[in-house]
Amino acid sequence: AKDVGILAMDIYFPPTCVLQEELETHDGVSKGKYTIGLGQDSMAFCTEVEDVISMSLTVVKSLLKNYNIDPKCIGRLEVGSETVIDKSKSIKTWLMQIFEEYGNTDIEGVDSSNACYGGTAALFNCVNWVESNSWDGRYGLVVCTDSAVYAEGPARPTGGAAAIAMLIGPNAPICFENKYRGSHMAHAYDFYKPDLASEYPVVDGKLSQTCYLMALDSCYNVFCKKYEKHERKQFSIFDADYVVFHSPYNKLVQKSFARLCYNDFLRNCSTVDEESREKLAPYAGLSSEESYQSRDLEKASQQVAKKLYESKVQPTTLIPKQVGNMYTASLYAAFASVIYNRHETLAGQRIVMFSYGSGLTSTMFSFKINEGQHPFSLLNIANILDVSEKLEARHVVPPKKFVETLKLMEHRYGAKDFVTSQDTSLLPAGTYFLTHVDSMYRRFYAMK
Ligand code: ACO
Repeated sequence: AKDVGILAMDIYFPPTCVLQEELETHDGVSKGKYTIGLGQDSMAFCTEVEDVISMSLTVVKSLLKNYNIDPKCIGRLEVGSETVIDKSKSIKTWLMQIFEEYGNTDIEGVDSSNACYGGTAALFNCVNWVESNSWDGRYGLVVCTDSAVYAEGPARPTGGAAAIAMLIGPNAPICFENKYRGSHMAHAYDFYKPDLASEYPVVDGKLSQTCYLMALDSCYNVFCKKYEKHERKQFSIFDADYVVFHSPYNKLVQKSFARLCYNDFLRNCSTVDEESREKLAPYAGLSSEESYQSRDLEKASQQVAKKLYESKVQPTTLIPKQVGNMYTASLYAAFASVIYNRHETLAGQRIVMFSYGSGLTSTMFSFKINEGQHPFSLLNIANILDVSEKLEARHVVPPKKFVETLKLMEHRYGAKDFVTSQDTSLLPAGTYFLTHVDSMYRRFYAMK
């Protein structure tokens, strides 16, 4: 198979959101802390009728319909998620309902999980399958879905929820450049979910930020080395038309891009101009430990990166700023943002991706983009993503209601024998929703 990659994409996020500005007032924090400090505009959340299973069912059904794909043509289905519901039973098995109906039960793949990295693991599995000897000529399908909720406190405004589906096959408009992948995997307790009675993670916020940046440095270095070995020329951030980051909140994305510019300076890239060299020179001798702690370096590198950030990163930030951290779906929602915003000019360009999952696992990889052919064209993908419409159609809920919903969900997590309100007034037609959970913890869904 040639030019294996992403043929089609679709996205679903809940129609309910809370404004970060209103959340600041509600939480009694200083004005600007969430909007400027974290860089977030609003946050989507699931009400009691939605969860990762319903969102995945909705997005898979929607992708198959929008691109007119016969469910019998799917040969592998992989889900990336860190939202735990039935533990041993994968979300993938839930999605099989859609395919069973068409007599297709011959579909490989299960769920992959490691914090926000599961989606990338699922994507790699599908791509590797299409490129392997066991490929049977059918499509792969990847679903990334999470509902990110945190206990009250500083992490709460960094939640979010969404599901993304990606169709995988040859001759794709979004092709993998497999030669240049760089990974960094290590043991860390920065974010994990040891309390099985709660949906909330245990998180060391500061440590998670440092782990993320260390992983970024390490992946970038491996990525550059592989590129240089293969292409026999130096890689710098100028060789990427866009850089897409896993986006827990926008401020970390700003810092991450600045960090890549600092890396280019340390690597003595010829693309770093004189002015930037002068600004970063005082930090050339810092140990890597010191460099993660230095506020002055953070400021200087953000200044150096500012203009490039506007062109190479800003177009990727639309959905993550509006929806929040979607965990496994975050990176791909950022990617969908650039496809949506820039589809007219992407052909021939390179997009560099950085995937991070706490605990920790991370990979930097890249895509080469071409126009594609209908229905798998950039234009059609952008039309189907329909991001602005979907964002504008949302309902802004007051923070009080958001907090009440989260309280209710705390009780519902791991519970049995309950019926939901079945209030679907805010859901678009075609959306799956949870109706009830029976005495055996079995869940039941219906479609609006
Ligand atoms: N106006 C403007 N900026 C402000 C204001 C204000 N009124 N108040 C604070 N800020 C800034 C701070 O200066 C800081 O910015 P800086 O980093 O550029 O200095 C920023 O807002 C955040 O404030 P802090 O006090 O540093 O941090 P806080 O206690 O609010 O916690 C954190 C932030 C750690 C990100 C928390 O939300 C968290 O734990 N989130 C979950 C973990 C996470 O997302 N980690 C990322 C990688 S792992 C993953 O994806 C889950």
